Amino acid sequence: MSYSPYVLKGQVALVTGGSSGIGEGAARCLAQAGAAVVINYHSDRAAAEQIVRDIISEGGAELAEGMPRAIAIGANVAKEEEVKAMFAQTIATFGTIDILVNNAGIQQDAAFVDMTLAQWNLVMNVNLTGQFLCAREAVKEFLRRGVKPDISCAAGKIICMSSVHQVIPWAGHVNYATSKGGLEMLMKSMAQELAPQKIRINSIAPGAIETQINTAAWSTPEMKAKLLQLIPAGRVGMPEDIGKAVVWLASDDSDYVNGTTLFVDGGMTLYPGFTKGG
Ligand code: BGC
Repeated sequence: MSYSPYVLKGQVALVTGGSSGIGEGAARCLAQAGAAVVINYHSDRAAAEQIVRDIISEGGAELAEGMPRAIAIGANVAKEEEVKAMFAQTIATFGTIDILVNNAGIQQDAAFVDMTLAQWNLVMNVNLTGQFLCAREAVKEFLRRGVKPDISCAAGKIICMSSVHQVIPWAGHVNYATSKGGLEMLMKSMAQELAPQKIRINSIAPGAIETQINTAAWSTPEMKAKLLQLIPAGRVGMPEDIGKAVVWLASDDSDYVNGTTLFVDGGMTLYPGFTKGG
């Protein structure tokens, strides 16, 4: 068996929340695997455009005539019209889309009794409704185009960025954990409904990954030591750890994987608190 270095050659991927953190890691890894990449950003246009420049200057797999290797598109994934415009621009630029990485997500932390409706709604709107809106637009295009066997044996692939908190309850973060728990059912129900049309939908559940969302948890030696007690692997994850999993789930190498969640968490979901007890 041999592996192509450009396992996603000829494919177009859109990464929501691609201007930083896990989304940035996913976008860079997808480009290295040969895909053309749309980097969606919410507010940091400069960061998204820098990643686009980096990807273009790195070069890589041969592209179809006139196809850009990467572009940046601004859109709030929680707004239906902005999501529709982003997909229209993607399809106008690349002709189609093969891979959606439903990554954009936020935290708005508060003790349960103090949590405002605005904090609750914002997290649900971005983390759950945003994934629904983007998946729906991607699926419309997958169904329109169907399978192109020289590109992929699937009509399309969606990777939903979940979290270990789809199974680990999280005090002080009830809105976030609830959004990720709901996402598991969104992902599985979509996968069940769309498998006959050759659309594969899976989730990745990252553990603690070094990004802006959780800087407080790893940026001081004291906090990092506390965090490492929760990670049997003994290190905090990096965006590339997730990016590599994204590439595999987007490629035909995982063709028989559908409706599942891949935990990429250094063992965080192994209940490390029970190592010496119970
Ligand atoms: C959260 C991070 C947290 C990690 C592990 C992620 O989903 O966004 O803030 O560090 O889960 O608890």
